Amino acid sequence: MSKNDRAAKFAILILAAGKGTRLKSRRPKVLHRVGGRPLLEHVIAAARQVAPVGDIFAVIGHEAEQVRQAVGGEGINFILQAEQKGTGHAIMVARPAMLKYDFFLVLSGDAPLIQPSTIEQVRDFHRQSGAAMTILTAVPADPTGYGRIVRKRQRGKPTEIVSTIVEQNGLTARQQNLREINSGIYAFSSQPLFAHLDQLKTDNPHREFYLTDMAEILSRARKKVVAVCAQDPAEVLGANTQAELASLDAMLRMRKCAELMAAGVAIYRPDTCVIDAEVKVGADTVIEPFVQLLGRTRVGADCQISSFCVIRDCEIGDRVMVRPGCIMTEARVEEGAALGPYSHLRPAAEVGAGGHVGNFVELKKTRLGRGSKANHLSYLGDATIGDNVNVGAGTITCNYDGVRKHQTVIGDGVFIGSDSILVAPVKIGREAYVAAASCITEDVPPESLAVGRARQINKEGWVKQRRGKKAAGES
Ligand code: UD1
Ligand code: CA
Repeated sequence: MSKNDRAAKFAILILAAGKGTRLKSRRPKVLHRVGGRPLLEHVIAAARQVAPVGDIFAVIGHEAEQVRQAVGGEGINFILQAEQKGTGHAIMVARPAMLKYDFFLVLSGDAPLIQPSTIEQVRDFHRQSGAAMTILTAVPADPTGYGRIVRKRQRGKPTEIVSTIVEQNGLTARQQNLREINSGIYAFSSQPLFAHLDQLKTDNPHREFYLTDMAEILSRARKKVVAVCAQDPAEVLGANTQAELASLDAMLRMRKCAELMAAGVAIYRPDTCVIDAEVKVGADTVIEPFVQLLGRTRVGADCQISSFCVIRDCEIGDRVMVRPGCIMTEARVEEGAALGPYSHLRPAAEVGAGGHVGNFVELKKTRLGRGSKANHLSYLGDATIGDNVNVGAGTITCNYDGVRKHQTVIGDGVFIGSDSILVAPVKIGREAYVAAASCITEDVPPESLAVGRARQINKEGWVKQRRGKKAAGES
Protein backbone atom coordinates (compact mmCIF):
# COMPACT_ATOMS: atom_id res chain seq x y z
CA MET A 1 0.00 0.00 0.00
CA SER A 2 1.49 3.35 -0.95
CA LYS A 3 1.48 6.37 1.33
CA ASN A 4 -0.96 7.95 -1.06
CA ASP A 5 -3.46 5.08 -0.67
CA ARG A 6 -3.43 5.38 3.07
CA ALA A 7 -4.21 9.10 2.86
CA ALA A 8 -7.15 8.41 0.50
CA LYS A 9 -10.40 9.75 1.92
CA PHE A 10 -13.31 7.34 2.11
CA ALA A 11 -16.97 7.44 3.06
CA ILE A 12 -19.53 4.81 3.98
CA LEU A 13 -22.82 4.90 2.09
CA ILE A 14 -25.72 2.85 3.46
CA LEU A 15 -28.55 2.07 1.04
CA ALA A 16 -31.79 2.33 2.97
CA ALA A 17 -34.38 3.86 0.67
CA GLY A 18 -36.17 0.70 -0.47
CA LYS A 19 -39.74 -0.11 0.42
CA GLY A 20 -39.27 -3.76 1.28
CA THR A 21 -42.21 -4.98 -0.79
CA ARG A 22 -41.58 -8.62 0.16
CA LEU A 23 -42.17 -7.86 3.86
CA LYS A 24 -45.79 -6.93 3.09
CA SER A 25 -45.69 -4.31 5.84
CA ARG A 26 -46.49 -0.62 6.03
CA ARG A 27 -43.37 0.01 8.10
CA PRO A 28 -40.24 0.80 6.05
CA LYS A 29 -37.99 -2.25 5.76
CA VAL A 30 -34.94 -0.80 7.49
CA LEU A 31 -37.00 0.00 10.61
CA HIS A 32 -38.05 -3.60 11.14
CA ARG A 33 -36.38 -4.87 14.26
CA VAL A 34 -34.03 -7.77 14.84
CA GLY A 35 -32.12 -8.37 18.06
CA GLY A 36 -34.15 -5.58 19.68
CA ARG A 37 -33.25 -2.73 17.32
CA PRO A 38 -34.01 -1.57 13.76
CA LEU A 39 -32.03 -3.18 10.92
CA LEU A 40 -30.53 0.17 9.96
CA GLU A 41 -29.23 0.81 13.48
CA HIS A 42 -27.19 -2.40 13.36
CA VAL A 43 -25.58 -1.31 10.11
CA ILE A 44 -24.89 2.22 11.41
CA ALA A 45 -23.33 0.76 14.58
CA ALA A 46 -20.96 -1.38 12.49
CA ALA A 47 -20.13 1.56 10.17
CA ARG A 48 -19.31 3.79 13.13
CA GLN A 49 -16.56 1.41 14.16
CA VAL A 50 -14.88 1.98 10.80
CA ALA A 51 -15.47 5.67 9.94
CA PRO A 52 -16.33 8.91 11.81
CA VAL A 53 -20.09 9.74 11.69
CA GLY A 54 -19.39 12.78 9.52
CA ASP A 55 -18.30 10.41 6.75
CA ILE A 56 -21.29 8.08 7.05
CA PHE A 57 -24.27 8.64 4.75
CA ALA A 58 -27.62 6.88 4.46
CA VAL A 59 -29.73 7.02 1.31
CA ILE A 60 -33.35 7.19 2.45
CA GLY A 61 -36.55 7.45 0.45
CA HIS A 62 -39.54 5.31 1.32
CA GLU A 63 -41.06 6.89 4.49
CA ALA A 64 -37.88 8.99 4.67
CA GLU A 65 -39.11 11.20 7.53
CA GLN A 66 -39.91 8.20 9.69
CA VAL A 67 -36.49 6.68 9.04
CA ARG A 68 -34.74 9.99 9.69
CA GLN A 69 -36.58 10.37 13.01
CA ALA A 70 -35.83 6.82 14.09
CA VAL A 71 -32.08 6.93 13.54
CA GLY A 72 -31.46 10.69 13.45
CA GLY A 73 -29.86 10.59 16.89
CA GLU A 74 -26.91 8.66 15.46
CA GLY A 75 -25.59 11.85 13.83
CA ILE A 76 -25.03 10.45 10.34
CA ASN A 77 -25.81 12.31 7.07
CA PHE A 78 -28.94 11.63 5.02
CA ILE A 79 -29.37 11.71 1.26
CA LEU A 80 -32.90 11.72 -0.12
CA GLN A 81 -33.78 9.34 -2.98
CA ALA A 82 -37.32 10.60 -3.46
CA GLU A 83 -38.21 8.00 -6.07
CA GLN A 84 -36.61 4.59 -5.67
CA LYS A 85 -35.50 3.45 -9.08
CA GLY A 86 -33.03 0.81 -7.95
CA THR A 87 -29.69 0.37 -6.16
CA GLY A 88 -27.85 1.97 -9.10
CA HIS A 89 -30.17 4.96 -8.97
CA ALA A 90 -29.43 5.33 -5.24
CA ILE A 91 -25.76 5.81 -6.15
CA MET A 92 -26.67 8.41 -8.82
CA VAL A 93 -28.49 10.38 -6.14
CA ALA A 94 -25.50 10.12 -3.78
CA ARG A 95 -23.05 11.23 -6.44
CA PRO A 96 -22.57 14.89 -5.33
CA ALA A 97 -21.79 13.81 -1.78
CA MET A 98 -19.49 10.92 -2.79
CA LEU A 99 -17.45 12.97 -5.29
CA LYS A 100 -15.68 14.55 -2.31
CA TYR A 101 -14.16 11.17 -1.46
CA ASP A 102 -11.48 9.14 -3.23
CA PHE A 103 -13.49 5.99 -2.66
CA PHE A 104 -16.51 4.81 -0.69
CA LEU A 105 -17.96 1.65 0.76
CA VAL A 106 -21.57 0.69 0.06
CA LEU A 107 -23.46 -1.19 2.77
CA SER A 108 -26.97 -2.53 2.61
CA GLY A 109 -29.41 -1.18 5.20
CA ASP A 110 -31.10 -4.58 5.29
CA ALA A 111 -28.04 -6.72 6.10
CA PRO A 112 -27.69 -6.21 9.88
CA LEU A 113 -25.17 -8.92 10.81
CA ILE A 114 -22.22 -7.27 9.06
CA GLN A 115 -19.20 -6.94 11.36
CA PRO A 116 -16.81 -3.95 11.44
CA SER A 117 -13.85 -6.26 10.75
CA THR A 118 -15.45 -7.39 7.48
CA ILE A 119 -16.11 -3.80 6.39
CA GLU A 120 -12.43 -3.09 7.07
CA GLN A 121 -11.46 -6.18 5.10
CA VAL A 122 -13.33 -4.84 2.04
CA ARG A 123 -11.80 -1.38 2.51
CA ASP A 124 -8.25 -2.72 2.80
CA PHE A 125 -8.66 -5.19 -0.07
CA HIS A 126 -9.93 -2.35 -2.25
CA ARG A 127 -7.00 -0.11 -1.36
CA GLN A 128 -4.41 -2.82 -1.92
CA SER A 129 -5.80 -4.14 -5.19
CA GLY A 130 -6.17 -0.68 -6.69
CA ALA A 131 -9.52 -1.82 -8.12
CA ALA A 132 -12.33 0.38 -9.40
CA MET A 133 -14.92 -1.90 -7.76
CA THR A 134 -14.53 -4.46 -4.99
CA ILE A 135 -17.42 -6.81 -4.26
CA LEU A 136 -17.85 -8.64 -0.98
CA THR A 137 -19.12 -12.11 -1.83
CA ALA A 138 -20.13 -15.18 0.16
CA VAL A 139 -20.95 -18.83 -0.36
CA PRO A 140 -24.10 -19.52 1.70
CA ALA A 141 -25.84 -22.89 1.96
CA ASP A 142 -28.73 -21.59 -0.18
CA PRO A 143 -27.90 -18.90 -2.76
CA THR A 144 -31.50 -18.53 -3.98
CA GLY A 145 -32.60 -14.92 -4.42
CA TYR A 146 -29.14 -13.35 -4.45
CA GLY A 147 -27.17 -12.01 -7.39
CA ARG A 148 -24.43 -14.47 -8.50
CA ILE A 149 -20.80 -13.73 -9.17
CA VAL A 150 -19.21 -14.72 -12.47
CA ARG A 151 -15.43 -14.73 -12.06
CA LYS A 152 -12.94 -14.59 -14.90
CA ARG A 153 -11.18 -17.95 -15.26
CA GLN A 154 -7.57 -18.58 -16.14
CA ARG A 155 -6.47 -22.08 -17.17
CA GLY A 156 -9.78 -23.42 -15.90
CA LYS A 157 -9.43 -21.80 -12.47
CA PRO A 158 -11.41 -18.80 -11.14
CA THR A 159 -9.37 -15.62 -10.55
CA GLU A 160 -10.10 -12.67 -8.24
CA ILE A 161 -11.36 -10.73 -11.26
CA VAL A 162 -15.15 -10.49 -11.69
CA SER A 163 -16.62 -10.13 -15.16
CA THR A 164 -20.29 -9.79 -14.24
CA ILE A 165 -23.01 -10.18 -11.60
CA VAL A 166 -26.21 -11.94 -12.65
CA GLU A 167 -29.42 -11.36 -10.67
CA GLN A 168 -31.52 -14.40 -9.71
CA ASN A 169 -34.15 -13.83 -12.39
CA GLY A 170 -31.50 -13.35 -15.07
CA LEU A 171 -29.68 -16.65 -14.46
CA THR A 172 -29.28 -18.93 -17.45
CA ALA A 173 -29.75 -22.69 -17.01
CA ARG A 174 -25.97 -23.14 -16.74
CA GLN A 175 -25.61 -20.28 -14.24
CA GLN A 176 -28.20 -21.81 -11.90
CA ASN A 177 -25.47 -23.72 -10.08
CA LEU A 178 -23.26 -20.69 -9.37
CA ARG A 179 -22.88 -20.73 -5.59
CA GLU A 180 -20.97 -17.51 -4.92
CA ILE A 181 -23.35 -14.62 -4.19
CA ASN A 182 -23.14 -10.85 -4.24
CA SER A 183 -23.50 -9.58 -0.65
CA GLY A 184 -24.63 -6.11 -1.77
CA ILE A 185 -21.56 -4.69 0.00
CA TYR A 186 -18.96 -3.01 -2.21
CA ALA A 187 -16.14 -0.51 -2.43
CA PHE A 188 -16.00 1.89 -5.38
CA SER A 189 -13.30 4.32 -6.44
CA SER A 190 -15.23 7.50 -7.13
CA GLN A 191 -13.45 8.59 -10.30
CA PRO A 192 -13.93 5.46 -12.48
CA LEU A 193 -17.39 4.76 -11.05
CA PHE A 194 -18.83 8.17 -11.78
CA ALA A 195 -17.16 8.27 -15.20
CA HIS A 196 -19.27 5.20 -16.18
CA LEU A 197 -22.34 5.32 -13.91
CA ASP A 198 -24.53 6.91 -16.59
CA GLN A 199 -24.21 3.77 -18.68
CA LEU A 200 -26.60 1.93 -16.34
CA LYS A 201 -29.84 0.93 -18.07
CA THR A 202 -33.18 -0.32 -16.88
CA ASP A 203 -33.40 -3.26 -19.29
CA ASN A 204 -34.34 -5.81 -16.64
CA PRO A 205 -37.58 -7.34 -15.32
CA HIS A 206 -37.93 -4.71 -12.55
CA ARG A 207 -37.18 -1.76 -14.86
CA GLU A 208 -34.67 -0.52 -12.28
CA PHE A 209 -31.08 0.71 -12.37
CA TYR A 210 -29.12 -2.24 -10.93
CA LEU A 211 -25.89 -1.26 -9.18
CA THR A 212 -24.73 -4.81 -9.88
CA ASP A 213 -24.51 -4.00 -13.60
CA MET A 214 -21.50 -1.78 -12.81
CA ALA A 215 -19.37 -4.94 -12.57
CA GLU A 216 -19.81 -5.66 -16.26
CA ILE A 217 -19.73 -2.00 -17.33
CA LEU A 218 -16.46 -1.35 -15.50
CA SER A 219 -14.76 -4.55 -16.64
CA ARG A 220 -15.72 -3.85 -20.25
CA ALA A 221 -14.09 -0.42 -19.80
CA ARG A 222 -10.95 -2.34 -18.69
CA LYS A 223 -11.32 -1.19 -15.09
CA LYS A 224 -10.42 -3.65 -12.37
CA VAL A 225 -13.37 -5.37 -10.66
CA VAL A 226 -12.44 -7.80 -7.89
CA ALA A 227 -14.21 -10.05 -5.41
CA VAL A 228 -13.30 -10.76 -1.81
CA CYS A 229 -15.13 -13.61 -0.11
CA ALA A 230 -16.55 -13.22 3.43
CA GLN A 231 -15.33 -15.90 5.83
CA ASP A 232 -18.73 -16.19 7.49
CA PRO A 233 -21.60 -16.21 4.97
CA ALA A 234 -24.09 -15.53 7.79
CA GLU A 235 -22.74 -11.97 8.11
CA VAL A 236 -24.15 -10.84 4.79
CA LEU A 237 -27.62 -12.37 5.05
CA GLY A 238 -30.33 -9.94 4.01
CA ALA A 239 -33.75 -9.45 5.59
CA ASN A 240 -36.18 -9.38 2.69
CA THR A 241 -39.08 -11.39 4.15
CA GLN A 242 -40.68 -11.87 7.58
CA ALA A 243 -39.18 -15.37 7.67
CA GLU A 244 -35.70 -13.97 7.02
CA LEU A 245 -36.24 -11.34 9.76
CA ALA A 246 -37.15 -14.11 12.20
CA SER A 247 -34.08 -16.16 11.40
CA LEU A 248 -31.77 -13.13 11.64
CA ASP A 249 -33.37 -12.28 14.98
CA ALA A 250 -32.78 -15.82 16.22
CA MET A 251 -29.13 -15.61 15.14
CA LEU A 252 -28.60 -12.28 16.92
CA ARG A 253 -30.27 -13.60 20.09
CA MET A 254 -28.08 -16.69 20.01
CA ARG A 255 -24.99 -14.52 19.48
CA LYS A 256 -25.98 -12.48 22.58
CA CYS A 257 -26.63 -15.58 24.72
CA ALA A 258 -23.32 -17.10 23.63
CA GLU A 259 -21.53 -13.87 24.63
CA LEU A 260 -23.20 -13.90 28.09
CA MET A 261 -22.50 -17.61 28.61
CA ALA A 262 -18.84 -17.03 27.69
CA ALA A 263 -18.81 -14.44 30.51
CA GLY A 264 -20.10 -16.95 33.09
CA VAL A 265 -23.88 -16.60 32.90
CA ALA A 266 -25.88 -19.85 32.98
CA ILE A 267 -28.70 -19.90 30.43
CA TYR A 268 -30.66 -23.15 30.54
CA ARG A 269 -32.44 -22.93 27.19
CA PRO A 270 -30.86 -20.05 25.24
CA ASP A 271 -33.05 -20.78 22.22
CA THR A 272 -36.12 -19.70 24.23
CA CYS A 273 -34.69 -16.47 25.69
CA VAL A 274 -34.89 -13.00 24.20
CA ILE A 275 -32.01 -10.81 25.34
CA ASP A 276 -31.35 -7.43 23.72
CA ALA A 277 -27.88 -6.42 22.56
CA GLU A 278 -27.24 -3.79 25.26
CA VAL A 279 -28.28 -5.95 28.22
CA LYS A 280 -25.57 -6.75 30.79
CA VAL A 281 -25.64 -9.75 33.16
CA GLY A 282 -23.13 -10.64 35.89
CA ALA A 283 -21.37 -13.99 36.27
CA ASP A 284 -23.08 -16.91 38.02
CA THR A 285 -26.52 -15.54 37.34
CA VAL A 286 -28.92 -18.25 36.21
CA ILE A 287 -31.45 -17.49 33.48
CA GLU A 288 -34.25 -20.02 33.20
CA PRO A 289 -36.13 -20.83 29.96
CA PHE A 290 -38.44 -18.23 28.36
CA VAL A 291 -36.98 -15.08 29.90
CA GLN A 292 -36.94 -11.70 28.16
CA LEU A 293 -34.29 -9.15 29.17
CA LEU A 294 -34.83 -6.00 27.14
CA GLY A 295 -33.50 -2.52 26.48
CA ARG A 296 -30.79 -1.30 28.82
CA THR A 297 -31.45 -3.85 31.56
CA ARG A 298 -28.56 -4.61 33.93
CA VAL A 299 -28.59 -7.75 36.06
CA GLY A 300 -25.95 -8.29 38.74
CA ALA A 301 -23.98 -11.42 39.64
CA ASP A 302 -25.39 -14.52 41.33
CA CYS A 303 -29.01 -13.74 40.54
CA GLN A 304 -31.77 -16.09 39.50
CA ILE A 305 -34.15 -14.95 36.78
CA SER A 306 -36.93 -17.51 36.55
CA SER A 307 -39.12 -18.45 33.61
CA PHE A 308 -41.62 -16.10 31.99
CA CYS A 309 -40.18 -12.84 33.32
CA VAL A 310 -40.26 -9.81 31.01
CA ILE A 311 -37.75 -7.25 32.26
CA ARG A 312 -37.23 -3.98 30.39
CA ASP A 313 -34.78 -1.17 31.22
CA CYS A 314 -34.31 -2.36 34.82
CA GLU A 315 -31.36 -2.32 37.16
CA ILE A 316 -31.03 -5.42 39.31
CA GLY A 317 -28.29 -5.78 41.93
CA ASP A 318 -26.36 -8.90 42.94
CA ARG A 319 -27.96 -12.03 44.49
CA VAL A 320 -31.50 -11.03 43.56
CA MET A 321 -34.07 -13.80 43.20
CA VAL A 322 -36.75 -13.14 40.58
CA ARG A 323 -39.34 -15.91 40.70
CA PRO A 324 -41.48 -16.84 37.68
CA GLY A 325 -43.80 -14.50 35.85
CA CYS A 326 -42.55 -11.05 36.94
CA ILE A 327 -43.17 -8.08 34.67
CA MET A 328 -40.73 -5.25 35.36
CA THR A 329 -40.19 -1.94 33.58
CA GLU A 330 -37.73 0.83 34.50
CA ALA A 331 -37.42 -0.49 38.04
CA ARG A 332 -34.45 -0.74 40.42
CA VAL A 333 -33.89 -3.69 42.70
CA GLU A 334 -31.07 -3.72 45.23
CA GLU A 335 -28.91 -6.68 46.22
CA GLY A 336 -30.38 -9.71 47.93
CA ALA A 337 -34.02 -8.80 47.24
CA ALA A 338 -36.60 -11.40 46.23
CA LEU A 339 -39.47 -10.86 43.84
CA GLY A 340 -42.40 -12.89 42.56
CA PRO A 341 -43.91 -15.08 41.49
CA TYR A 342 -46.07 -12.65 39.49
CA SER A 343 -44.86 -9.29 40.78
CA HIS A 344 -45.43 -6.18 38.69
CA LEU A 345 -42.80 -3.47 39.00
CA ARG A 346 -43.70 -0.39 36.99
CA PRO A 347 -41.55 2.68 36.23
CA ALA A 348 -39.70 4.19 39.22
CA ALA A 349 -40.38 1.19 41.44
CA GLU A 350 -37.50 0.59 43.81
CA VAL A 351 -36.93 -2.39 46.09
CA GLY A 352 -34.29 -1.92 48.78
CA ALA A 353 -31.64 -4.48 49.69
CA GLY A 354 -33.14 -7.69 51.05
CA GLY A 355 -36.70 -6.51 50.34
CA HIS A 356 -39.45 -8.95 49.39
CA VAL A 357 -42.21 -8.38 46.86
CA GLY A 358 -44.59 -11.28 46.46
CA ASN A 359 -47.37 -12.51 44.22
CA PHE A 360 -49.80 -10.05 42.66
CA VAL A 361 -48.09 -7.03 44.18
CA GLU A 362 -47.81 -3.93 41.99
CA LEU A 363 -45.33 -1.12 42.66
CA LYS A 364 -45.32 2.21 40.83
CA LYS A 365 -43.19 5.28 41.67
CA THR A 366 -42.64 3.64 45.01
CA ARG A 367 -39.62 2.78 47.07
CA LEU A 368 -39.93 -0.22 49.36
CA GLY A 369 -37.08 0.16 51.86
CA ARG A 370 -34.35 -2.27 52.91
CA GLY A 371 -35.64 -5.51 54.39
CA SER A 372 -39.28 -4.46 53.90
CA LYS A 373 -41.91 -6.90 52.73
CA ALA A 374 -45.06 -6.70 50.64
CA ASN A 375 -45.74 -10.32 50.03
CA HIS A 376 -49.30 -10.64 48.76
CA LEU A 377 -51.94 -8.90 46.65
CA SER A 378 -51.11 -5.20 47.05
CA TYR A 379 -51.05 -1.95 45.10
CA LEU A 380 -48.39 0.47 46.25
CA GLY A 381 -48.21 3.64 44.14
CA ASP A 382 -46.58 7.04 44.78
CA ALA A 383 -45.32 5.81 48.15
CA THR A 384 -42.13 6.04 50.14
CA ILE A 385 -41.89 3.05 52.43
CA GLY A 386 -39.07 2.90 54.99
CA ASP A 387 -36.86 0.02 56.07
CA ASN A 388 -38.12 -3.16 57.77
CA VAL A 389 -41.76 -2.40 57.10
CA ASN A 390 -44.32 -5.18 56.83
CA VAL A 391 -47.10 -4.46 54.38
CA GLY A 392 -49.94 -6.93 54.99
CA ALA A 393 -51.79 -8.84 52.29
CA GLY A 394 -54.24 -6.77 50.28
CA THR A 395 -52.93 -3.36 51.32
CA ILE A 396 -53.76 -0.58 48.89
CA THR A 397 -52.52 2.99 48.61
CA CYS A 398 -55.34 5.13 47.26
CA ASN A 399 -53.06 7.54 45.43
CA TYR A 400 -55.57 9.02 43.00
CA ASP A 401 -58.50 11.31 43.83
CA GLY A 402 -59.76 11.36 40.28
CA VAL A 403 -57.76 14.47 39.41
CA ARG A 404 -54.36 14.31 41.06
CA LYS A 405 -51.92 11.75 42.47
CA HIS A 406 -50.94 11.95 46.16
CA GLN A 407 -48.09 10.56 48.26
CA THR A 408 -48.14 7.95 50.99
CA VAL A 409 -45.18 8.01 53.39
CA ILE A 410 -44.57 5.06 55.69
CA GLY A 411 -41.77 5.27 58.32
CA ASP A 412 -39.22 2.62 59.29
CA GLY A 413 -40.43 -0.44 61.17
CA VAL A 414 -44.15 0.13 60.51
CA PHE A 415 -46.60 -2.77 60.48
CA ILE A 416 -49.57 -2.42 58.15
CA GLY A 417 -52.28 -5.00 58.89
CA SER A 418 -53.84 -6.92 56.02
CA ASP A 419 -56.53 -5.40 53.84
CA SER A 420 -55.73 -1.83 54.83
CA ILE A 421 -56.61 1.15 52.70
CA LEU A 422 -54.25 4.12 52.94
CA VAL A 423 -55.96 7.20 51.49
CA ALA A 424 -53.23 9.59 50.28
CA PRO A 425 -51.91 12.09 51.10
CA VAL A 426 -51.15 10.32 54.36
CA LYS A 427 -48.18 9.62 56.67
CA ILE A 428 -47.69 6.63 58.95
CA GLY A 429 -45.07 7.46 61.62
CA ARG A 430 -42.09 5.31 62.47
CA GLU A 431 -42.86 1.94 64.18
CA ALA A 432 -46.62 2.55 64.17
CA TYR A 433 -49.17 -0.22 63.71
CA VAL A 434 -52.21 -0.12 61.47
CA ALA A 435 -54.89 -2.61 62.48
CA ALA A 436 -56.06 -5.03 59.80
CA ALA A 437 -58.85 -3.82 57.49
CA SER A 438 -58.37 -0.18 58.46
CA CYS A 439 -59.24 2.69 56.19
CA ILE A 440 -56.60 5.30 57.08
CA THR A 441 -57.44 8.85 56.09
CA GLU A 442 -55.45 10.75 58.73
CA ASP A 443 -51.75 10.73 59.59
CA VAL A 444 -50.68 8.18 62.23
CA PRO A 445 -48.16 9.40 64.84
CA PRO A 446 -45.00 7.30 65.43
CA GLU A 447 -45.19 4.26 67.74
CA SER A 448 -48.99 4.31 67.92
CA LEU A 449 -51.78 1.98 66.85
CA ALA A 450 -54.34 3.17 64.32
CA VAL A 451 -57.63 1.34 64.08
CA GLY A 452 -59.83 2.63 61.32
CA ARG A 453 -62.75 0.23 61.04
CA ALA A 454 -66.21 -0.41 62.47
CA ARG A 455 -66.26 -2.30 65.77
CA GLN A 456 -67.45 -5.91 65.52
CA ILE A 457 -70.80 -6.84 67.08
CA ASN A 458 -71.70 -10.44 67.95
CA LYS A 459 -75.48 -11.09 68.15
CA GLU A 460 -75.83 -14.20 70.25
CA GLY A 461 -78.75 -16.55 69.48
CA TRP A 462 -79.43 -14.75 66.21
CA VAL A 463 -79.57 -17.93 64.09
CA LYS A 464 -82.12 -19.64 66.30
CA GLN A 465 -84.27 -16.51 66.30
CA ARG A 466 -84.18 -16.39 62.52
CA ARG A 467 -85.22 -20.05 62.19
CA GLY A 468 -88.17 -19.35 64.47
CA LYS A 469 -89.31 -16.48 62.26
CA LYS A 470 -89.06 -18.63 59.15
CA ALA A 471 -91.18 -21.39 60.68
CA ALA A 472 -93.86 -18.80 61.49
CA GLY A 473 -94.12 -18.02 57.76
CA GLU A 474 -92.23 -14.79 57.70
CA SER A 475 -89.64 -14.14 55.04
C1 UD1 B 1 -29.37 -6.75 -3.97
C2 UD1 B 1 -28.45 -7.04 -5.16
C3 UD1 B 1 -28.15 -8.53 -5.20
C4 UD1 B 1 -27.54 -8.97 -3.89
C5 UD1 B 1 -28.44 -8.58 -2.71
C6 UD1 B 1 -27.72 -8.84 -1.40
C7 UD1 B 1 -29.10 -5.39 -6.85
C8 UD1 B 1 -29.78 -5.16 -8.14
N1 UD1 B 1 -29.09 -6.62 -6.38
O1 UD1 B 1 -30.60 -7.42 -4.22
O2 UD1 B 1 -27.23 -8.82 -6.25
O3 UD1 B 1 -27.32 -10.37 -3.91
O4 UD1 B 1 -28.76 -7.17 -2.75
O5 UD1 B 1 -28.54 -8.62 -0.30
O6 UD1 B 1 -28.54 -4.45 -6.27
N2 UD1 B 1 -32.37 0.44 -2.07
C9 UD1 B 1 -32.32 1.81 -2.17
N3 UD1 B 1 -32.90 2.43 -3.25
C10 UD1 B 1 -33.50 1.73 -4.24
C11 UD1 B 1 -33.55 0.31 -4.14
C12 UD1 B 1 -32.95 -0.29 -3.05
O7 UD1 B 1 -31.79 2.50 -1.31
O8 UD1 B 1 -34.00 2.36 -5.18
C13 UD1 B 1 -31.77 -0.20 -0.89
C14 UD1 B 1 -32.74 -1.07 -0.12
O9 UD1 B 1 -33.39 -0.33 0.89
C15 UD1 B 1 -31.82 -2.14 0.46
C16 UD1 B 1 -30.66 -2.22 -0.53
O10 UD1 B 1 -30.74 -1.06 -1.32
O11 UD1 B 1 -31.34 -1.78 1.74
C17 UD1 B 1 -30.75 -3.46 -1.41
O12 UD1 B 1 -31.98 -3.43 -2.12
P1 UD1 B 1 -32.89 -4.72 -2.26
O13 UD1 B 1 -34.09 -4.35 -3.01
O14 UD1 B 1 -33.06 -5.37 -0.95
O15 UD1 B 1 -31.94 -5.60 -3.21
P2 UD1 B 1 -31.96 -7.18 -3.35
O16 UD1 B 1 -33.07 -7.58 -4.23
O17 UD1 B 1 -31.85 -7.81 -2.03
CA1 CA C 1 -31.99 -7.12 0.10
